[in-house]
Amino acid sequence: MSANVAGDKPKLIIFDTTLRDGEQSPGASMDKDEKIAIARLLERMKVDVIEAGFAIASPGDFESVQAVAAAIKDSTVCSLSRALDKDIERAAEALKPAARGRIHTFIATSPIHMKYKLQMEPDKVIEQAVRAVTKARNLMDDVEFSCEDAGRSEPDFLCRIIEQVINAGARTINIPDTVGYAMPRQYGAMIRDLIARIPNSDRAIFSVHCHNDLGLAVANSLDAVMNGARQVECTINGLGERAGNASLEEIVMAVRTRKDFFPVQVDVDTTQIVPASKLVSRVTGFPVQPNKAIVGGNAFAHESGIHQDGMLKNRETYEIMRAEDVGWKTNRMVLGKHSGRNAFKSHLAELGVNFANEADLNAAFARFKDLADKKHEVFDDDLLAIAKDSQQIQVNEGLRLVSLKVHSETGETPAASLVLSINGNEKQANAQGNGPVDAAYRAVNDLVGSDVAVQEFTVNAVTKGMDSQVEVNVRVEHDNHIVTGHGADMDIVVASVKAYLHALNTLQTMESRLHPHVATH
Ligand code: KIV
Ligand code: ZN
Repeated sequence: MSANVAGDKPKLIIFDTTLRDGEQSPGASMDKDEKIAIARLLERMKVDVIEAGFAIASPGDFESVQAVAAAIKDSTVCSLSRALDKDIERAAEALKPAARGRIHTFIATSPIHMKYKLQMEPDKVIEQAVRAVTKARNLMDDVEFSCEDAGRSEPDFLCRIIEQVINAGARTINIPDTVGYAMPRQYGAMIRDLIARIPNSDRAIFSVHCHNDLGLAVANSLDAVMNGARQVECTINGLGERAGNASLEEIVMAVRTRKDFFPVQVDVDTTQIVPASKLVSRVTGFPVQPNKAIVGGNAFAHESGIHQDGMLKNRETYEIMRAEDVGWKTNRMVLGKHSGRNAFKSHLAELGVNFANEADLNAAFARFKDLADKKHEVFDDDLLAIAKDSQQIQVNEGLRLVSLKVHSETGETPAASLVLSINGNEKQANAQGNGPVDAAYRAVNDLVGSDVAVQEFTVNAVTKGMDSQVEVNVRVEHDNHIVTGHGADMDIVVASVKAYLHALNTLQTMESRLHPHVATH
């Protein structure tokens, strides 16, 4: 089957799995509203397929797939399912509201997975795959089948199973390198050989899904495209299991920038890439490394005098892409303390932030005015921190910081005194610690009886200069749940406490959903 032809080259289908594989990164869980916000941005970006989740995995996943399916009109919305009747039925149910839905079903095909994980004979695996695809096709026209761990599967076996699932109605055949083991030339040749050897391969689109364990996910995906793959599965910022997936921005910009090289074209609106990257980073609390291709803060920065000189003479001496084409603004902040609410709202919309209601917008706008009074310049990242923090205040239903006093002096033990609102009741505690943040966290623990373990604590100055806001991300673990809390403020200890309370509130929400009768504070 040939992919849609747009212009003179076949189209490369961009399948985004940030909301499914991306969410499988420990600590990257997203709630329904966050998923809808990301899906909307992906739709605006004109991503072809959005994998919204794994409907059977939990009631929350089901609701998220359903909500994304209802919200998205222009992209296909997909749910993952194992090759099991109950998974497929659940996926179809969640996708009911979709304008265009796809069931993505998979089973492992490598000798090691079949023997140890599935404990099934290869012929039984084929039987189950065919049954699953037949079942899915009875519920939905658009069905994708994945051979999990295809990168380590035997080509003869892949030919057999793929031929049969195409006959059963699979329209897309995905060949994942699940463990990131493949090498580009070898993986490309594998795709080429499968397409050549499978007699009915012209009736399906071949897709790739590469993990980044050896840092080769993008290279492997692009080699596959050179050898006939017409769908790439990828994620914003390369988020995903372990070392992540192929990053959407790198795939799209490689194909776009090297039109002379690739035999395909992409339909994506690339100006939405940076807003999407910032939104995903904000929601997950995973910062983007400054030297990350396309979306890193330094991706379009020129420091060396020789480079700057070349750039002034001709931009193309040192730039192969334009920053504006991927959504960077080269100009600095244009909002100031005289700006109005509408300018503030539309500027944040350009950055991928859309407020759920007027109250959220008003809270964020009030904080912006406050900051604009104190700072010389307000940058985009300041705005994002404000937006996030305001949304966080909405989320903080149980625990909220009322006031904080810290004492830190050379030779003295740091001490903190804070007042929290706990379900509307104000309580006060004092504590000492190894540093002011430690003291403040101990005071919080005293008040809420928390025994969470702090796994990671990062502080980023979100803009340059001594008057910068700081953003704190703290990853905590309790009862095998890992969540990330975010907080932003000009005061580092206040930002740290806000981040900690955000994490505790998220944990509390999560645990009260799982165990409705147990309240942790
Ligand atoms: O990595 C993988 O194999 C997957 C499949 C379920 C597509 O994520
Ligand atoms: Zn995967």
